[in-house]
Amino acid sequence: MPVITCIDDLKRLHKLRTPKMFYDYCESGSWTEQTFRENTSDFDKIRLRQRVAVDMSNRTTKTTMIGRDVAMPVALAPVGLTGMQRADGEIKAARAAEKFGVPFTLSTMSICSIEDVRENTKAPFWFQLYVMRDEEFVDNIIQRAKNAGVDALVITLDLQILGQRHKDLKNGLSAPPKLTAKSIIDMGWRVQWGLEMLQTKRRTFRNIVGHAKSASDMSSLSAWTAEQFEPRLDWSMIARLKEKWGGKVILKGVLDVEDAKKAVEVGCDAIVVSNHGGRQLDGALSSIRVLPSIVEAVGDQTEVWLDSGIRSGQDVLKALCLGAKGVMIGRAYIHGLGAMGEAGVTKALEVIHKELDISMALCGRRDINTFDRDMVLVPDDFEGRWA
Ligand code: GLV
Repeated sequence: MPVITCIDDLKRLHKLRTPKMFYDYCESGSWTEQTFRENTSDFDKIRLRQRVAVDMSNRTTKTTMIGRDVAMPVALAPVGLTGMQRADGEIKAARAAEKFGVPFTLSTMSICSIEDVRENTKAPFWFQLYVMRDEEFVDNIIQRAKNAGVDALVITLDLQILGQRHKDLKNGLSAPPKLTAKSIIDMGWRVQWGLEMLQTKRRTFRNIVGHAKSASDMSSLSAWTAEQFEPRLDWSMIARLKEKWGGKVILKGVLDVEDAKKAVEVGCDAIVVSNHGGRQLDGALSSIRVLPSIVEAVGDQTEVWLDSGIRSGQDVLKALCLGAKGVMIGRAYIHGLGAMGEAGVTKALEVIHKELDISMALCGRRDINTFDRDMVLVPDDFEGRWA
């Protein structure tokens, strides 16, 4: 058993143990990947303020996210094709999250369906909705989520058309993978991955296949998005969806103060400041850079969370100090899943929790609910002057 000390250790194992097309799907941004890179490098520009001789006993990272008790304010983000990183990946990740006491979000573009996750877990989970042209499909999936006891709907706003990820095109990404000489050789030596995949029946987009009018290629994320995602999505449609759902709503993919204000106007329980992990608009600002202005504009009216760029507990801490009430992690747990299945997701959560807890103590705090701007040092020009 390798010694895992950080998310990067899991990332190395993920790369080793998972077919290239799926590892690359996770570890890429759109076009030049500038935004993808800056999501993490901008975190490095922020420093933590070391404080000493402060009582650091009885620490807690427990808090709430939209009223739900969490062991730490870190939710698992919706990630497409998770069940291709490891067989039954969404079920494994949801189980790890449940045991750890953090929320799991199932993507519309998942391999395991809403029903698969429901049958194999107990805790309520969140469901992420991509708005499709096919209204019947949308109505139906909302009902399926309700039937499964989903307790918050995450509406993703920044992927009505797909940003181009060069590697996916070059690798011929599909679920299940198409059998070519290259893919057979590549999969052939990921023995554990292959054995587990052979034992599961879950190898297609099970939220969609059998539930929606067929696309030209049901195995292809890019064909599906191009043909089925609703390009006319606007605030009035979001308001209607919110009404249809009738429960808690999280609006994900907000990167601009004006949009944050609109999100609050429409009504939501939280917004997620996100550029989709740098996978959509290449050239957009990193999430952490935009966060303070959005917190300032709407932080007293809704919970502001952040995703895109979190790879450590120190990153979580920095985001909270800049005003986020919580964060979502994507790649950090997918690396764990690809490395070691459910145990790897648990490991990713443990790593982040330990880093968060110890760094909090070294900053002189013992309660995560007391984080503030005083704990970090941010360069004067961090947010930048953009005209
Ligand atoms: C889907 O959410 C993707 O980013 O590929």
